[in-house]
Amino acid sequence: MTATPAGITYAQYLGLDDLLSAQRPLSGLHDEMLFIVIHQTMELWMKEMLHEVDYAIRLIGKDSFAAAYKALSRVGRIQSVMTLSWDVLSTLTPVDYLAFRDVLGTSSGFQSAQFRELEYRLGLKDEAYLKQHSPGSDDRARLDQALLQPSLRDAAAEALKRAGFDVSGGTDAAWLEVYRNADAYFELYQLAEKLLDLDDAMAMWRHKHVLTVERIIGNKRGTGGSAGASYLRSTLEKRLFPELWSLRTDL
Ligand code: HEM
Repeated sequence: MTATPAGITYAQYLGLDDLLSAQRPLSGLHDEMLFIVIHQTMELWMKEMLHEVDYAIRLIGKDSFAAAYKALSRVGRIQSVMTLSWDVLSTLTPVDYLAFRDVLGTSSGFQSAQFRELEYRLGLKDEAYLKQHSPGSDDRARLDQALLQPSLRDAAAEALKRAGFDVSGGTDAAWLEVYRNADAYFELYQLAEKLLDLDDAMAMWRHKHVLTVERIIGNKRGTGGSAGASYLRSTLEKRLFPELWSLRTDL
């Protein structure tokens, strides 16, 4: 533990000088402030999610399920807040946004290294997105590292293995068995439901993003160079644990 400096103030402890001087609108237009603040709050929440997901992965690795559920429940509450916050951004009309959209240049949430790191740590390890981050940059180093680290998906598969399941050909059959004998495998069953909560909430966040994008820019191309809403709609099918969804049919 680091010693607390004598007489430390609220602003010093929280680094508010840095935090509150990081909103620098380029257009001078009223609504750009909201646009910046909403992105920054989401980035802060992603930072906290990464912190909790890393912890949950380590706890699952030790079969400390109760503590892992606690971390995952916190992630779930953060996801709820993040999804709800799209409604604040929806108060930005297309007219308001188009007035300053030019100042964004080629910048886009597409380049959010924390969002991609989160996907990687959860188990969606699509290396194609690495090209958004130049080799040698800090962001790229974090993403390269995240690809090597065990993901939440890996941690769950390892937990099944430790419980005696054969997961060499995938986890589908193991999870189905867990659900068919929920009493016998209660901890894994509870873990699966937490993982599904997280997957569900990711899909909800993505969904509200697309809806917000559609109401603000329609089908215009994105500043990051993608086709825009149609690209985002293509990400709605992404699932961290597709087998937990499909087993519902097989039960
Ligand atoms: C006016 C508001 C917004 C619009 C019009 C918008 C539009 C878009 C578009 C069109 C894309 C696709 C990539 C591109 O071509 O640029 C994108 C991606 C993305 N945006 Fe937004 N966005 C908005 C707000 C936000 C906010 C507040 C966040 C929060 C951090 C965010 C995070 C992301 C992320 C993480 C991606 C990558 C998604 C993926 O690859 O799955 N966006 N956005």
